[in-house]
Amino acid sequence: MPYKHKIAVIGAGAVGASIAYACVLTKVPANVVMVDVDKRMVEGQVLDLSDVGFLSPVPVSVGTVKEAGQCDIIVITAGAKQRPGEPRSELVERNRTILKSVIDGMQPIRKDAIMILVANPVDVLTYLAQQLSGLPRKQVFGSGTFLDSMRLRGYLADKLQVQQNALHCYVLGEHGDRQFVGWSTANIGCTPLLSHPLMKDVDLATIERQVMRKAYEIIDRKGATCFGIGGCVASLCNSVLNDRRDVRPVSCWDEKHQVCLSTPASVGIDGIEEVLEMPLNEREQKAMDVAVKAIKDACQRYSN
Ligand code: 2OP
Repeated sequence: MPYKHKIAVIGAGAVGASIAYACVLTKVPANVVMVDVDKRMVEGQVLDLSDVGFLSPVPVSVGTVKEAGQCDIIVITAGAKQRPGEPRSELVERNRTILKSVIDGMQPIRKDAIMILVANPVDVLTYLAQQLSGLPRKQVFGSGTFLDSMRLRGYLADKLQVQQNALHCYVLGEHGDRQFVGWSTANIGCTPLLSHPLMKDVDLATIERQVMRKAYEIIDRKGATCFGIGGCVASLCNSVLNDRRDVRPVSCWDEKHQVCLSTPASVGIDGIEEVLEMPLNEREQKAMDVAVKAIKDACQRYSN
């Protein structure tokens, strides 16, 4: 084991395996420990991942839920996945039960562990994990709309023919059907995105819908999404362990709205280092209010 840090990935299906694979390829400075109730399957994933050992020094091994509770980062992907056409919000009952049994099995959890929720509906599960784990709120966050924001950047980068990292724009609110784009603050370099000549003929509502529907399109064709989320979560693990303070739209406790939702936050060694409040115009604030209400209602319903 060449590293002192450990990342546990709980749930070794397509999403968990893609996260582990992306951690290996991006050389996250940690040992990756995979955990699943299906012993033979997780062993198979680890054997398969060992074949990329020639590209990366990051080791991957099989572990238990109890061991996961002592890792530096605990990534939770375990849960039912969406069926074609099914909204993420309908998974809440099934995935709350799984989340509770996973967190109970990890106790006592290491006090400085960072927990990253990936299973859906991620905003509600992030809130429940904050309650169930006993960890400080800033140490428990969800992948949120990071992936949706990268999907948005992908569409815009194609349209404007620029590098994705020249685009500063976020999908906000719920990682679900009630997400929205913060167009009013979007920039290309330092220039307001909407003043770019090529944006004049772009229908913003169409792009927003394409981004929101992308997971459905993928699930409809291949049954699940995995590569994008794998990349996003590996990037978050790198932000934490290298204390990078990258600003990412992740699902975290939002003091203003008293709920977990996606808003840009800097991510470092202590988890959420700072939540950056976004200025919203009237349309965006309305969309935020709709997302807040839906997430809050679900949190209240499933808290006990
Ligand atoms: C995604 O957006 C399904 O939440 C998953 O790819």
